[in-house]
Parts: sequence; C-alpha cells; structure tokens
Amino acid sequence: MPPFQRHVFVCTNRRPDGHPKGCCATKGGEEVRARFKEELEKRGLKGQMRANAAGCVDTCSFGVSVVVYPEGVWYGGVKPEDVPTIVDEHLVGGRPVERLLMPFSRGKAQE
Ligand code: FES
Repeated sequence: MPPFQRHVFVCTNRRPDGHPKGCCATKGGEEVRARFKEELEKRGLKGQMRANAAGCVDTCSFGVSVVVYPEGVWYGGVKPEDVPTIVDEHLVGGRPVERLLMPFSRGKAQE
C-alpha cells in the first residue's frame, strides 16, 4: 500500500531570466505548492495526501505544471486560486478538473 492516497508534484523549477523555455517558478510554482500544503492541512489530509515541490517535468510551456499520482493526471496553467478546486474535486472527490488538464491528459483522466 502506498504511503499516500494521492501524491501531488508541483513544478517549482527556476531558470535564469530570459531563458527561452521560461519556468514554473516565475509563473507562481512556489505559491501553488504552498497553497496545496495549506489546503490539505486545512482539510486534515496531512499524512494521507502530500504535495511536493518538483523540478522541471518537461511541460514548461503549460506551467505551472502539476502532476497527481497514482492516476498520472497532468494539470497546466495552475494558479493558487485553482488549488481548492483540485483538492475538493479531484484529490477528495476523485474527479479530475477537466478545464485545467493539459491537452494530452484530457480523456485519459476518465479511463
Ligand atoms: S519549468 Fe516547470 S515544467 Fe519545466
């Protein structure tokens, strides 16, 4: 049995200013990760679910990139204000938030 029911990885990778790929740090990666931690704690889910900072997951143009396991669902363009919805609908409710899915993750989330 895995230690966490759901494990969230938030890209917080930082690249130098002007880098052609950009990075999730400048799009608010740290704020998104902090909000996940806060919302999980608020709901008493600490210990059951976890949000970790991650390095680049290679979907930079879609950042802030967030991946949820065990499903392997990928979210893109995540903002701190999206986090309560992802926690309530997906992490707790089991239904991925369609409007925030990366294009290649759409449809797959329903499998
Ligand atoms: S910098 Fe976040 S996915 Fe590459």
